Amino acid sequence: MKTIENYSLLNNNTFGVDVNARYFIEYDSVEELQYLLRSDLLQENKFFHIGGGSNLLFINDYEGVILHSKITGIDAIEGTRCMAVLKVGAGERWDSFVEYCVSKNYGGVENLSGIPGEVGATPVQNIGAYGAEAANVICAVECIDVKTGAEKTFTAAECEFGYRDSVFKRALKGKYIVTYVHFKLQKTGWTPNVNYGSLKDEFAKYPEQNIAAVRSAVLAIRGRKLPEPKVLGNAGSFFMNPVVPISLYENLKKSYPDIPCYPVSDTTVKIAAGWLIEKCGWKGKSVGPVAVHGSQALVLINKGGANGLDIINLSDSIRASVREKFGIELIPEVNIIFG
Ligand code: EPU
Repeated sequence: MKTIENYSLLNNNTFGVDVNARYFIEYDSVEELQYLLRSDLLQENKFFHIGGGSNLLFINDYEGVILHSKITGIDAIEGTRCMAVLKVGAGERWDSFVEYCVSKNYGGVENLSGIPGEVGATPVQNIGAYGAEAANVICAVECIDVKTGAEKTFTAAECEFGYRDSVFKRALKGKYIVTYVHFKLQKTGWTPNVNYGSLKDEFAKYPEQNIAAVRSAVLAIRGRKLPEPKVLGNAGSFFMNPVVPISLYENLKKSYPDIPCYPVSDTTVKIAAGWLIEKCGWKGKSVGPVAVHGSQALVLINKGGANGLDIINLSDSIRASVREKFGIELIPEVNIIFG
């Protein structure tokens, strides 16, 4: 474990924003993390924990300590003929884990193929795509209490999962660091979950209707819609899909019969933010070094050399347009970090 001073975070955020951290530390084990939390450096400085940096926007240099987990490993800790429980280190790449499950023919995470980032962030953010979310397969989350260094394991119910939401983003924000996540996967009785949008048609193209085919279909759709961060800096969906009262949706539907929505509860629906942004004329538009992606308006891209403020300014303009045209407030999904 070593402390690097004035570390460039360019390769630690998929937006490709060039900012420095005053200190940067990677740790390999729970014991190293506990030691770090007691150290003078962390007692005397503010700190922020990153994962793969795929859902972050740094606005300026971070005048504290950036922590990053290198806790890895995928271990089977429980299993029956029908299911397996895997304990996965927070520092594992999410998509390597998905690939591992698919190679073992374990069902449950194949719809979440190709999502950038690391395992430790999955319960915080409750990552989701193509009709599935992490909450469907997470059975426990091992954490360290930032204040005391004590270990605590949260059950899935205690995580209070919601759409792109968990207790770790709300009441317990900044209070725990995830070290391991336990996933429950299906060994038998798997059936494809391909009802989301274009997934059904894409999946139908594969001769073998298996778990690997779902992964291939999802990767094919993602490849068409979402920019590769190594080529064009981005953080996936910049905004969450807004959850609005059904009455507002019904009203909008009178003027926009094709407005896409997904049911949420008896009184609310989720509207596709990408559609709202496109209808405001933003799709494919550039403002200086930043732009709205031409294939998916929910994604903002760094065309090269953009800083955090360039991206925030574009986000603010988009939010103002959507507010004015539809009376809907878009909330960023990306975690915005001021140094
Ligand atoms: N749409 C448009 N214009 C656009 C984009 C979308 O009209 O520019 C319409 C589509 O035609 C479709 C609807 O909006 O009717 C939904 O679009 P899409 O299937 O692309 O999904 P999304 O709701 O825009 C969400 C997630 C994505 C995830 C996809 C697929 C959020 C905030 N985003 O996007 O997640 O990959 O569904 O499941 O929930 C991410 O979180 O970073 C991310 C990429």
